[in-house]
Amino acid sequence: MNETVSLERIRAIQGVETLEGLYDEARRQDMTPGWIKRDKPILTAEPTGSYVPAHWQYEHVKPALDAASRLVDVHLAERRNLILCNPAAKNRVATTETLVCAYQTILPGESARSHRHSPHALRVIIDAKGAYSIVNGEKTPMETGDVVLTPGWFWHGHGHDGQDPAYWFDGLDVPLTQLLGSIFYEEHPQEFEPIVSVGADSPFRFKRDSIARNLDQAKPHPEGHHGARIALAAPDMPTMGLSMERLSAGTKTRRQRSTANEVLCVTEGSGETSVGGDRYKWRRGDTIVIPAWIKHEHKADTDAVLFRLSDEPLMRFARYYRFEAD
Ligand SMILES: [Fe+2]
Repeated sequence: MNETVSLERIRAIQGVETLEGLYDEARRQDMTPGWIKRDKPILTAEPTGSYVPAHWQYEHVKPALDAASRLVDVHLAERRNLILCNPAAKNRVATTETLVCAYQTILPGESARSHRHSPHALRVIIDAKGAYSIVNGEKTPMETGDVVLTPGWFWHGHGHDGQDPAYWFDGLDVPLTQLLGSIFYEEHPQEFEPIVSVGADSPFRFKRDSIARNLDQAKPHPEGHHGARIALAAPDMPTMGLSMERLSAGTKTRRQRSTANEVLCVTEGSGETSVGGDRYKWRRGDTIVIPAWIKHEHKADTDAVLFRLSDEPLMRFARYYRFEAD
């Protein structure tokens, strides 16, 4: 800003005689008065998030993925996935304030290129036999019921040695990374990262069987907040909390809410979730979104297992975490 313009600006603000004039001058200088009443106040008595509860049914998603398999070559698409856009935030590629989820498919014999990005990512395998990820050079199997992690900036690509299409659920913290202005992304210089080792047992893979064994040892919450629950340790992905929860047939959790944004992916069984004013009947493969501070409860119709992805660790770190049950 040159000196003449600067002097003009000082004189203009010094000469202001009305509040409207002050507001106009402040706006010209990219400022806003903190004392005015706003349609959407900055501070509210409690969270008033703009995201809404949502439910995606796998039986609808799967044929859409199959259509994508017919129409989209995985070599042209970086990933053949369908992203779950929250109905109240259609202009954003986001499922909750901090998380984005998707369903993805790969056909036998296909390979999805290797890349890496700062957002952390994970996969819950819904239907796959013979599919795999290559995570930092290690070939990691992806079988039905597994959870596979790719922490931020780890190279990862996918392949499929099996006979039938593979389907999985993806969860990433992309909206958070965007908000923080920390997105980095890079394609692998060799396009497909070479496999240097094969690891059936990897700290980045939770196998269905070991998840089931650990759930056998877990007990439901004594006050009915949740069923038998185990945490899936992901120390390299500190923004996301991952857990598996088993609800036996007929179990109902207490109505509750927390400041964490949650996404549930049903890995076994069927049931019903009430969230806000909505009621969702869910089955294996479905995704349910529970935005922060909206009351919800779950009921299992059959023995069920839910994968839970949330930003709870982030909320706890910031000391914003609150929980209450009716
Ligand atoms: Fe990725």
